[in-house]
This record gives sequence, structure tokens and C-alpha cells, in this order.
Amino acid sequence: MDKKWWKESVVYQIYPRSFMDSNGDGIGDIRGIISKLDYLKDLGVDVVWLSPVYKSPNDDNGYDISDYQNIMDEFGTMEDLDELLKQLHERGMKLMMDLVVNHSSDEHQWFVEARKSKDNPYRDYYIWRPGKDGREPNNWTSFFSGSAWEYDEVTGEYYLHLFSKKQPDLNWENPELRKEIYDMMKWWLDKGIDGFRMDVINLISKAEGLPSAPGGKRYDWGGDYFMNGPRVHEYLQEMNREVLSKFDIMTVGECPGASTSDAVKYANNEGTELNMIFTFEHMDLDSGPDGKWNVKPWKLRDLKEVMSKWQYKLEGNGWNSLYLNNHDQPRMVSRFGNDKEYRVESAKMLATFLHMMKGTPYIYQGEELGMTNVHFENIEDYNDIEIHNMYREKVLEGGEDHSEIMDAIYVKGRDNARTPVQWDSSPNAGFTTGTPWLKVNPNFQKINAAKATADSDSIYYYYQKLINLRKQYDIIVYGKYDLILEEHEQIFAYTRVLENKKLVVLTNFTGESAAFNLPEDIHLESAELIIGNYQVREGEMVDLSKLKPYEARVYLLK
Ligand code: NOJ
Repeated sequence: MDKKWWKESVVYQIYPRSFMDSNGDGIGDIRGIISKLDYLKDLGVDVVWLSPVYKSPNDDNGYDISDYQNIMDEFGTMEDLDELLKQLHERGMKLMMDLVVNHSSDEHQWFVEARKSKDNPYRDYYIWRPGKDGREPNNWTSFFSGSAWEYDEVTGEYYLHLFSKKQPDLNWENPELRKEIYDMMKWWLDKGIDGFRMDVINLISKAEGLPSAPGGKRYDWGGDYFMNGPRVHEYLQEMNREVLSKFDIMTVGECPGASTSDAVKYANNEGTELNMIFTFEHMDLDSGPDGKWNVKPWKLRDLKEVMSKWQYKLEGNGWNSLYLNNHDQPRMVSRFGNDKEYRVESAKMLATFLHMMKGTPYIYQGEELGMTNVHFENIEDYNDIEIHNMYREKVLEGGEDHSEIMDAIYVKGRDNARTPVQWDSSPNAGFTTGTPWLKVNPNFQKINAAKATADSDSIYYYYQKLINLRKQYDIIVYGKYDLILEEHEQIFAYTRVLENKKLVVLTNFTGESAAFNLPEDIHLESAELIIGNYQVREGEMVDLSKLKPYEARVYLLK
């Protein structure tokens, strides 16, 4: 067992804009977070991952940073941040900051300088190219629709932006830029923060010559030329030598398009790069051939295959991160569970399913309350740049059907996860005394933290119990994973083994009861049920051959 604190931890992600507003301007802020630290401590989380709080014009809600060493006015001040760090540490919790260095804001001083002239000292901090035949330098599309290039009149060249045109990509080939980034990281770590979540960190190295995606389309997905690019491991190893290795911290890299063989390099056991990465493979199971908005139903069979592949392939070679939602993904209970009749049962089932796997679990704010997706009738009620760009391209310019696209937004839109946290049943769910920047989900009277913390059978307390179990049993952290009941159409079941102990995890992913026959060497009769999402009444016999709708049970065999 290679014991590490970041393997034993549970991380809680805060999207500050939507977490808690302390000053009534309708926008969550750092003081708001501080006011809820006891809530997080009671839940039992070890690490808080804070989505970006740096200075930003908010084209992409803080993922477009104009000053890495200052705080966004709407969120507060550096003193507030220092206070947050201090108060987290006083409670025995840690702080992981978001590091967004694939791109900056176009309002960052580096870019303001870079666009002035071709010979500006900062020019090479970004990726500039002349046009080709009166068009963009290549045919890549951005993650947020349209070309990944923007023409800049001043110097008559294009700059690359894999996200919005206000998020120009940084040129990692430039050693001076890399040094500036490392210095900035050290500055934060010297302050005492405990780690970084690295935004799309596997996009920092682009293929030599920036070739167009093949097939001759005017605009096309060029991911093969910028995901897991040629120098990415070299850069991360350098970052590790220069910065990360000097501190006892936790690092997780967001890595779209990374395979398990990429992952065992990024998250290698020798610790030369990062501790773990976020895979997207399970998040892509409900996307059709045309990508995210081309929604298709996900299949349990595929979920088993993908999750198990990551468990097996990283065993002994790396470390997994475990998540089912975040600020970019729809709400887990709406996507993989049932957000109506079985909302509570399925939220607990999904939590069990995830927290019992091998890896570090991440909880996204409101997940512990079973918060759900939202349906806004009006496109104007959405805020997300990804949604608006896509809507403009497909409906306003492309003539596609409005209601079909709205349906896709209901299932996949990022704002599903960004509606304000539902604290209580007062106006605006207790999130703000003003007008919230994004409307509150109208179900807040039924689903909120005040209700959850007053009900010992709530999803919140179920998470608390799951987290406690992790502290109690090594096997939950370090046990080896094995899939069982592979062909079962309703149940996702697996075991974890450590020394002479075995954990059996049974989760029903459907709203019908599900019968099962366990492998012959597993006998539940003498096993201890350590957690389950249905109350077992005194003297009641639990059916050892059947699960109720969305039932989850975890047994410890000795
Ligand atoms: C991934 C972040 O999680 C997402 O919110 C953001 O839009 C992009 N990277 C660009 O920074």
C-alpha cells in the first residue's frame, strides 16, 4: 500500500459564483464560502477545490483569467482568500485552487501587450499565425463552437483560442512563459494552498505545424492535434521538478481525450507528473457521433466497461479520480439516476457506487443534497457561453429546431449544475438577498440544505456516513477492484479486496427490483452490511438475492 493523504481524502468542489452570496449582489463570494465552512466540515470533506476566483472579465465565469495573482472584485479580496485558507486549515481541511494555464483572458496584460505588434516581447506568449488563402490558419473548431482562430486587425494575424475568443491559448513552447507560470504557482503554494486542479492541462502542447483536421471540411474537430500533444509530458515533468515536487500537495489534471495509457503517464506512481487526472470517458457515454449535443441514452453495459477499464488499467500504475458531475456536467441524479420518484434512493445509490470505487472521490456542490437539472423555458435565462454559442450556431444561424436544441440543453447544458446552491426554503433558496445571477431551480422548497440537515435519513447524512466509512476502512481506499455480475442488466456490482478482507458493492441502476446470483465464493449470510440506502427495520430479514429499486448495499466479508 502506497499510502498518501490525497488518496484517503474526499474533495468537495465549490463553484464560487453559485455557492453562497454574502453581500446581496446576487453573486456568490468568498465570504459566503467562509460562512458555510462548518457545513462542509460536518459533511466530513477533507479538501475544497475552488473553481477560479482570480480577476476575470467573466466571459467563461472565471476560466478566463486576466490576473493570476488577484481576486475577482465580485468574489472579494485577497484578504478574504487568506481568511478562507486560514479558516479551512483551522478546521483541518485543505484548499485546492484551480489553475487555468492552457489559456488566459484576452484582457490579461500579456495579451494586451502581445496584440500590439509582432515584435512585442509578449507576442510569443500566445499562438499567432498568418491566414491561409484568406482564411483561418487551419480548420479547427473551438470547444465553444465556430473557428478556433480569431483575426486581429492590429497586426493582421490570427490567434488560437480553443475556447472562447476571449480565451487565447498560451504558447507553452516559450520557456519564459513557462517560467512565469511556475513562479506564479510557487507564489500560491508559498501562501500555503494545498494543491491545484489543472484546467484542460493536456491541451498545452499542440502538434508541430498545427495541421488541419483531415477530411477537407471547412471547420472540423482538431482534437488529435492538441489533446495529449507531443511535449505535454515534458512540460508536466518540468513543472513537477520546478514546482510541484517541492511541496506536499495534491494535483489533478483535467484531461479530455486522455486514454488509460495516457493516464498512467500523467498520474504515474513515481510521481513525476500529477497525482491523478479527470477522465471524460464516462461523461461521453450519452453523446452520439456528432458530439455532446447529439444526445443518446447511456447504457449500463458501457458504464461498466468504462469504469472497470479505468479501475483495472490504473491498478498499481496510477490513481483514479472519481466523479459523476461537476460545473461542466449535468446533475448526476438527473443523468444517471432518477430525479423524480427515486431521487433520494438513486442519489444515495450513485454516491455508494462512486465512493466505493478505487480512487479519490469528488463531490460537486449540491450533489450532497440531490440537486437536479433545471428546465428554463427561455434561452435568455441561461448564462453559459457554451450554450449560447451553440444555440446561435445551430438555431439562429443553422436553422435547426429550437425545441430539439432546448431538449439537448435540458439534458447536457452546463447551467444545470450552476444554479445556486439551495440552502433553505426562503426566497432564492437562501443563496442571496438580491437577484441571483442565474435563476434558482424552482424545486428549492423541496430540496435544500436546511431540510437535509434536519433529516437523519437525508442524502446529506448518507454522504457523511460514506465519508466516515472511508476513514474507518483501509479497504475502501486501497482495496483492489474487481467487477462481478458483469452481464447483469440492472446491477453494477464489484468487489474490493485488501489482504484477507473483501468488500462487496451492489448497486441497482433501475427503478425495478433486481434479482441476482452472486459468484459461489461470496456468501453474504455471514457478512456485515456496512451501508445501504434502504432502512432495515429491527428484526427485518434483508433479501440476499434481490435489490429494491435503486438500492445500494455494501457488505464487508471477513
Ligand atoms: C474546463 C473548465 O472546467 C470549463 O468550465 C472551462 O470552460 C474550460 N475548461 C475552459 O477553461
